[in-house]
Order: sequence, then structure tokens, then C-alpha cells
Amino acid sequence: MEIVVCKDKAEASRKAADMIAALVKRNPKCVLGLATGSTPVLMYGELAKDVKAKKISFRQVKTWNLDEYYGLAPTHDQSYRYFMNENLFKKIDIQIKNTHVLNGLAKDPVKECKAYEAAIKRAGGIDLQVLGIGSDGHIAFNEPGTSLKSRTSVVYLTPSTIKDNARLFFHGKLDEVPTRALSMGVGTICEAKRVVLLAFGKGKADAVKGMVEGGMSQFCTASALQAHNDAWVFCDEDAASKLKLKDYYAWRSATVLKG
Ligand code: PGA
Repeated sequence: MEIVVCKDKAEASRKAADMIAALVKRNPKCVLGLATGSTPVLMYGELAKDVKAKKISFRQVKTWNLDEYYGLAPTHDQSYRYFMNENLFKKIDIQIKNTHVLNGLAKDPVKECKAYEAAIKRAGGIDLQVLGIGSDGHIAFNEPGTSLKSRTSVVYLTPSTIKDNARLFFHGKLDEVPTRALSMGVGTICEAKRVVLLAFGKGKADAVKGMVEGGMSQFCTASALQAHNDAWVFCDEDAASKLKLKDYYAWRSATVLKG
């Protein structure tokens, strides 16, 4: 895992956007895995700027999102489909038919999850997966206690995730946050050829510590990335503040990035 420690979230978002933009330039037909939440918003803004400046085009890019709340319509203003449309898809030149988000209203959610995985495979797999990290160490909605080999399925949110999500979304209303979601599994995520995880703020410091320097454990599902051979973490000083080898990671990643 390469840990890129940046002075703030603006610098981290730009660096992560550079990595994605380089891939899109190199392979205009690449397949991206995308994430929602407050964390990637700045980075999506940077990518939108690149499109506006005609540095890159998403015209032929295909995307699959990590997860969706179970029971929310794609038109619901707190659904992840709505979030993606507003925060990225409307701002870039992607073809909406090439963007995929799990259907939270699927009559048969198990079938929906299987079909989602099959579609990713048919597209050749995910070239680069964007991730955030929950304060409990989750990736996508894979909460503590989820197998590190899990596949896309219906999952159950922990009280801490429900609280985090109510604070940032759902107008602060705890009882409006769905308790279940459809989510790519940890095993599914780890099949992406490259992973780019963003983490900002003191509230993520314990999760980042667990992911990077804790044992690999289903108690912190992000720790599964320790076994991925091309995983990048772009974080700010606060999120990196509990890492024992922070300075070493910062030096090493800067050297690797320079080539
Ligand atoms: P956040 O969520 O970006 O809103 O902090 C991250 C996550 O739960 O994966």
C-alpha cells in the first residue's frame, strides 16, 4: 500500500484526480469504480475542471459505483445515484448509459447483485476503484464482521455508520437513514486492478491506522487492501496522524510518484 500524505484535502484530491486523469488519457475506454460520501466530492470537482479544460474526456469511460441504499429510488435526493449525477456525471462528458449504480428498489436484490458483478466482469473488470473509508474502517458498506472475501450483496449498516451518514446527509435525521444497502463486497473491490482510497480529517485517523498498521481483519474491512498490490491512499495530515511510520510512507510514496 502506498500512503501519500498531503498537506490538506485539496492537495490530496488533486493528486488522486491526477492519477485518474492519467488513466483516462492512457485508456479512454477504461472502467472506473466510483464512491459516494463527502470525501470524493473535491476530487470529482477536479476531474470536472479537467474535462472543462479539455484535458480529458469521459466519453467512452464506463463506471460502476460501490453501493446504494436499499429501498431508495434513484430519484431520491439522498440516493447514491442522485449523488453521482449531481456531483460528477452532470459535470463531465460521460454517457449516462455507461454509468452503473446498484438499484436500491430491485425486486430481487440478490439477482441484482449477481447481475452487477457479471456486468463488471463482462466489461473486463475495474481498472481503478475509488474508495473512501468509514470511521469504523469500512470500505463501501462492508461493516466490521464482513468476510474479506465477500461479494456484492445486501448488507446491514452499523449504528455508527447510520450516525455518520445522518450527520453528513439525510438532513441530520437518524431515522431517515436506511439500515440496509446493496454493496460491492470486499472480495469484489480487491479485484480492481488499482485502488485509490481517500481519507481526510481526524475522525478517520483510527480507521487509517487500522487499515495500514493493524492486522488484516474483518473488524476493519479496509485492511483487506494490505493484500492488494496496487493500492494508493491519499490522505491529509490529520487522517495520517496516528500512523507510526507516517514520515517513511510520505517519503516513499513521493519517491514512487516521481518515478
Ligand atoms: P464519507 O464516508 O466520505 O462521507 O466520510 C466515507 C465512507 O463511509 O466510506
